[in-house]
Amino acid sequence: MQSEHNGELCLITGAAGFVGSHLAQRLLEMGFSVIGVDNFFSGRAANMISFRDHPEFTFRRADIREPDLLKRLKASHPGVCRCFHLAAVVSVPYSVAHPELTMEINHRASLRLMEEADRLEFKSFIFAGSAAEYGDDQRIPLHEDYASEATRHLSPYGLSKFLTSRAIANFPRGVSLRFFNIYGPRQDPASPYSGVISRFIDMAGKGSPLTIFGDGFQTRDFIYVSDVVDAYIAAAGLGNEGRKQKAIQGVFNVGTGGSTTVRELATTIIEVCGSRSAIDCLPERPGDIRHSLAAVGKFQEAAGWSAKVSLQEGLIETIREMRDCF
Ligand code: UD1
Repeated sequence: MQSEHNGELCLITGAAGFVGSHLAQRLLEMGFSVIGVDNFFSGRAANMISFRDHPEFTFRRADIREPDLLKRLKASHPGVCRCFHLAAVVSVPYSVAHPELTMEINHRASLRLMEEADRLEFKSFIFAGSAAEYGDDQRIPLHEDYASEATRHLSPYGLSKFLTSRAIANFPRGVSLRFFNIYGPRQDPASPYSGVISRFIDMAGKGSPLTIFGDGFQTRDFIYVSDVVDAYIAAAGLGNEGRKQKAIQGVFNVGTGGSTTVRELATTIIEVCGSRSAIDCLPERPGDIRHSLAAVGKFQEAAGWSAKVSLQEGLIETIREMRDCF
């Protein structure tokens, strides 16, 4: 079926993941046709339930390491001209246990995909970078140019994302968005390494103690998933309501520019959930950084984007959606 955007198709790798599924849903709501690719390594079919049967959505179970992936997709869907590349090894501890696989997927296969997109003259290629690219840098706020050869990366995950972002910075029509701590519905709370917000909401819902690692005065820049989706739309030059904007190029931080302590986070979640959970202070987690905060001016200037959702609002929405799982 022809979409209302002149048959332009958007490709999302990692479409069954936490962020990829929110992005797919939004692009479909905006009237774009979407091809979602995922190998279900960490993505889940359940994340796609709300749009799986949308007439403008096509799903391909595939691995980004497959040769000529974009060429084959283009052969069956000639309108595909934008790639949102979110498929990755996403777990930091997994990357420590599997450094070679992490470099292959997050760096080498990602570069091959970007080169293919360039050969096929895609209008944009947007890579999911990470605050982990700044390693243990404690200059606050973190500016894009702080990540460099000299950075002490704390994991193969951080290094692999940095190397890819650096290559993308020199590529026409390439954008790397360095996300800070993303949270929202569909983030899986199951693993000990899951994001702190999904874990705390799960604990508060069950009435079990919220586990703070260390003194709880470490800070993070927490960004809600709908703001992240807005950032992708702005980076691709698609505008919020499908209005065309100018596409941008380079590496940009995506955070709120505001910081929250883990202790504040725990008390807010207990309050919003109306929970009786206590707070347990456990030993500090090895390898944790103390503070992480985005400098947000560069992306604001280039794309006119800034975060809209306050932590309180984002938590209320996340808790509302996650309650069904308690
Ligand atoms: C996050 C990313 C990681 C990225 C890093 C870059 C997630 C899940 N991880 O790690 O991919 O490399 O940013 O900066 O988004 N905490 C508790 N109790 C818990 C769980 C966590 O106190 O039960 C604390 C942690 O010790 C940490 C903070 O909460 O100080 C945030 O932890 P987490 O959500 O795991 O994210 P980061 O470590 O910042």
